[in-house]
Amino acid sequence: MDFLKPRSHRMTRRRRIYEGKAKVLYEGPEPGTLIQYFKDDATAFNAKKHEVIEGKGVLNNRISEYVFQRLNDIGVPTHFIRRINMREQLIREVEIIPLEVVVRNVAAGSLSTRLGLEEGTQLPRSIIEFYYKNDQLNDPMVSEEHITAFGWAAPQEIDDIMALAIRVNDFLSGLFLGVGIRLVDFKIETGRLWEGENMRIVLADEISPDSCRLWDVKTNDKMDKDRFRKDLGGMIEAYTEVARRLGVVQDNEFARAEGPRLVK
Ligand code: TMP
Repeated sequence: MDFLKPRSHRMTRRRRIYEGKAKVLYEGPEPGTLIQYFKDDATAFNAKKHEVIEGKGVLNNRISEYVFQRLNDIGVPTHFIRRINMREQLIREVEIIPLEVVVRNVAAGSLSTRLGLEEGTQLPRSIIEFYYKNDQLNDPMVSEEHITAFGWAAPQEIDDIMALAIRVNDFLSGLFLGVGIRLVDFKIETGRLWEGENMRIVLADEISPDSCRLWDVKTNDKMDKDRFRKDLGGMIEAYTEVARRLGVVQDNEFARAEGPRLVK
């Protein structure tokens, strides 16, 4: 369906500020704003695996909009201003802190591999990890020592980032549990937002099934990017189900994407 196809040809007028693996940032309409465009590209293992999954960007835009708006509503500072269209959001320009901040509630993924923990093991408490955001180096895990020694963030900023990560985890765990989904782990990025002389750490980037592990409470089915990483199939169906449960898409809204269906 055409409405799910990327419309990058329309963007050529705008100045492109940055292109990542799943998103593009364009110059915004006012100083201090940017437009965040969600692509359909799915990558894993530092882009060694790549596929275009039609409609993924539309779903992530909607899911991330919902999550960021809910966080804004409860006073968690974020870069999100509003969604503009199917694939774009208006955001505040922030100075991205070069860290991927992972919060884990249940053992999975690289934690399971590193420490030999069975996937699905409840952790004794939530664990925060930092990874240095650097594709050439494969986003290596780092400690607070590395972060402060190399000046990626100051000690006070690390405290702020951890407090933000815990608030996001507490809120999102409840939000997802309310719709029958277990928040196993997730990754966030943060940025410095300058307001005159004052600087605040705010939540940036996106929160979507690309950046979270989401398991169905009853069946333990994976409803996130692990479907792509592990070649399980059904990625769009899973993302659509997450969106449907959160109430951000109507039951039949994305049915059109599957093309004409035989009416029996
Ligand atoms: P991991 O178990 O592979 O370290 O991933 C932890 C969480 O972070 C998981 O929810 C997926 C997310 N994540 C990203 O969003 N981007 C990445 O590049 C990686 C490696 C993980």
